[in-house]
Amino acid sequence: MTDPSLFLKNLWYLAFHSSFLKKGKLIGKEMLGEKIVIGRDSTGKVFALRDNCPHRGVPLSSGWFKDDTIQCCYHGWTFNTDGVCQGIPAMAPDATFDPSKIKVFQYPVAEINDTIWIYIPEKKLPSTVPNEPPPNLVLNPDQKFKHVETVMMPADIDHSVIGLIDPAHVTFVHQSWYWRSAKKLKLKEKKFEPTGRGFKMARHAPSSNSKGYGILKGGTSTEITFEIPGNRTEHIQVGKKQIVSITILTPINEKQTELTHIFYTDIALANLLWLPLKRLGKQFIGQDLGVFNKLNEGLKSKPTLSLIGEPDLQARWYFEIKRLWALSKQNNEPFVNPVKAQTLHWVT
Ligand code: FES
Ligand SMILES: [Fe+2]
Repeated sequence: MTDPSLFLKNLWYLAFHSSFLKKGKLIGKEMLGEKIVIGRDSTGKVFALRDNCPHRGVPLSSGWFKDDTIQCCYHGWTFNTDGVCQGIPAMAPDATFDPSKIKVFQYPVAEINDTIWIYIPEKKLPSTVPNEPPPNLVLNPDQKFKHVETVMMPADIDHSVIGLIDPAHVTFVHQSWYWRSAKKLKLKEKKFEPTGRGFKMARHAPSSNSKGYGILKGGTSTEITFEIPGNRTEHIQVGKKQIVSITILTPINEKQTELTHIFYTDIALANLLWLPLKRLGKQFIGQDLGVFNKLNEGLKSKPTLSLIGEPDLQARWYFEIKRLWALSKQNNEPFVNPVKAQTLHWVT
């Protein structure tokens, strides 16, 4: 049984980059242990329904999608994209039963800057209205993210998040000769502040031992925000131009978490360097995946873990934010962020 506190409900989760979902296509996807069918109608609008036929439970994603109608592959019941049953082929023409009484649960959906988000409520009530806005992805409505990479991490959401916000592994997992060198370790001092549902490393000039930033001339500064359930946003300002690099974790179930990296920039040079940048992003994610496979082996024997000192403080903040967020929703009280503005130190 999954620990019910593992997944935070009543929040928006990334399904995938918009390029994955063409018109007329149905994709079945597991998110937070729930089976969801996601599609795009003929007008381009995205919808998401519970991926079980209300008749006998077959996944609707195994059926057909034509003329904005989903047809189950088992007995052919049809549904519109709101999940309302439109017809039961085996029913005699003079039957008085009204099929529109049958409804598949419909998830709220948002498509923002070419990314598709699904709101996963705790209670599956008809016509669920989200009580949280979709995440702030920094960009203007007309700007679009490029998809860098998606990988499946062999870990639950908690291990995946603390892996994502952990500064200390960078030296050992991501060192490569053209990026940074283990010989040049430096004491870092970073200012942190609370945000709505997380915390941010306040805007600062990038560290001088990250050569990757060296190519970006002119008033470079970066701000890194983490918010629950698992969104890490890096916003780099280069003069009047910007780079937005977002890593998003979507829990699939208690054993797997999907990591998606999306990227935006209006710097012409970076667009020219898109392929090498994409390769670099892929390499970073591949290095994390490598160490996660080892972590997964280690965790099988359920060792006791210890999150120690300032290098691990963000991980402890995560658990505390998560706990208090869930509690505030349960008690119908406003969430009070436990993080206080402070400076953290570590050597990387
Ligand atoms: S299971 Fe879907 S129509 Fe019977
Ligand atoms: Fe990493």
